[in-house]
Amino acid sequence: MITTAIYPGTFDPITNGHIDLVMRASKLFNKVIVAVAINPGKKPAFNLTERVDLAKQTLIGLDNVEVCGFEGLLIDVANQKQAKVIIRGLRAVSDFEHEFQLAGMNRRMRPEIETLFLTPAEQFTYISSSLVREIAALGGDVSEFVAPCVMTALKAKLV
Ligand code: COA
Repeated sequence: MITTAIYPGTFDPITNGHIDLVMRASKLFNKVIVAVAINPGKKPAFNLTERVDLAKQTLIGLDNVEVCGFEGLLIDVANQKQAKVIIRGLRAVSDFEHEFQLAGMNRRMRPEIETLFLTPAEQFTYISSSLVREIAALGGDVSEFVAPCVMTALKAKLV
């Protein structure tokens, strides 16, 4: 029986859209590991420790959810954590091509690990971390898109 799923991402920072997916996944699996990628290619605004801490604070009420940071290949972390399913979110058709490639490459490297796509609730379809960062940096209100602790961190970092 499949009991552990891994939800990877850059989470720079974690948004309500990500939280929505974690909550959905936590109802489907005994354990969900939110795996925060170091992802230097994206030049994240928050460093890995900050992104992990914000994800932990935000997801504190979900007992079967664990947060960890990782460097290296996702499939290797999935294997270490005995996760047989990778969760990814699909917000719009535009996400599909990139996600299809990632899922294909991961399957090629580790055929026993499946990628499962979940869609967020409609009100989160337009959220992305980079837009949240941009709005916050320009002094806009992001309270609808992120948890209060993330809002505070954004203010401290960007405004
Ligand atoms: N709600 C809100 N936003 C969401 C979302 C949701 N449900 N789902 C995705 N997004 C947004 C993210 O905020 C992010 O927005 P941004 O680009 O504006 O910051 C964007 O969609 C996609 O980012 P993310 O989910 O972080 O994925 P990614 O494409 O940056 O990272 C990894 C993908 C981390 C899974 C991938 O790079 C990886 O596996 N890295 C490890 C190395 C590896 O194994 N490489 C080989 C891969 S085959």
